[in-house]
Amino acid sequence: MRTLEWQAERGALRLIDQRALPSELRFIELTSAGEVAQAIREMTVRGAPAIGVAAAFGLALAARHSRANSTGELLSDLHSNAALLRAARPTAVNLGWAIDGTLRVARGAASGTVEDIRRRVLDEAQRLANEDVDTNRRMAAYGADLVRDGDTIIHHCNTGALAVVDYGTALGVVRAAHEQGKRVHVLVDETRPRLQGARLTAWELGELGIPYHIITDGAAGHFLHRGQVQLVLVGGDRVAANGDLANKIGTYMLALAARANRIPFYCVVPLSTIDHSCPDGSAIPIEERDPSEVLELEVHGQRVTPRAAQARNPAFDVTPNELVTAWVTERGIVRAPFAANLAHLLAQGGPA
Ligand code: MRU
Repeated sequence: MRTLEWQAERGALRLIDQRALPSELRFIELTSAGEVAQAIREMTVRGAPAIGVAAAFGLALAARHSRANSTGELLSDLHSNAALLRAARPTAVNLGWAIDGTLRVARGAASGTVEDIRRRVLDEAQRLANEDVDTNRRMAAYGADLVRDGDTIIHHCNTGALAVVDYGTALGVVRAAHEQGKRVHVLVDETRPRLQGARLTAWELGELGIPYHIITDGAAGHFLHRGQVQLVLVGGDRVAANGDLANKIGTYMLALAARANRIPFYCVVPLSTIDHSCPDGSAIPIEERDPSEVLELEVHGQRVTPRAAQARNPAFDVTPNELVTAWVTERGIVRAPFAANLAHLLAQGGPA
């Protein structure tokens, strides 16, 4: 079962509605680029690679429903829908990466017919979806070598099958280690305020039969300090050219606590998450979401914050590259210094 899947007979994109989990495994069908942009904004679909692939299908829907009579008109329709999709969330670079790639394919088919462009855009979205699954499995195979039998791992946010098309990034590494027969145990950061860890990662680990305990985000330092954790695994929404890592809010504090306790901190990201146009983390746009996500929290059916309270709600933070022990990619493991070793790895076509 994929997080998102094209329904050819209905001409629709089918998504797992991540807002309903873990209470209900509910699917929704989207039939326009506008609906896809809304689903990305509202985090019905979330996770950097998943929103990139969803946006590519959004363009396929835009092409399908466009009334354009010429390829020029269709390309112009696609560009305006691309702007709508791109604006849905600013931090994950995979969103713009998938949109740009799909637009390139559309432009490449401009010498053909309107129907040719429609077909090529849909094919490209399907290709990106299949490539994502393949990429995750490759990263997981490299990353699993970092996990030993009996390890306890701290994991932040949700980086499993739900954050991608299938399998997962950081959680994919946990899954591969488990499939290799290693006994692993996961401490799942609940991940305030949207609780991707408590709701989604816990659900996925339960489905996979991997032992876990949910911890409050602030408890991570305690377990690291007590020597009860062997490694930290996170994903990433955008990695700058120098290796600085934008990921779910709370990642930076976790990286600091890992460094203070000399525990390796690994970031599992596909190469599509590296933004070579961002020299360092200060250039990465950080999404600030509605304060209601922080303020309208209910415990035992009661709102916990004063009615007049105000809140700040950055959805991501930046972890400086020097706190990352290594980056796990689909081409192998990159150690510091990031830029030089990444270039080396790409030139070799394998691990550095
Ligand atoms: O706000 P979200 O839930 O979309 O944030 C997701 C994350 O931060 C993940 O850790 C990240 O996308 C990498 S996992 C594929």
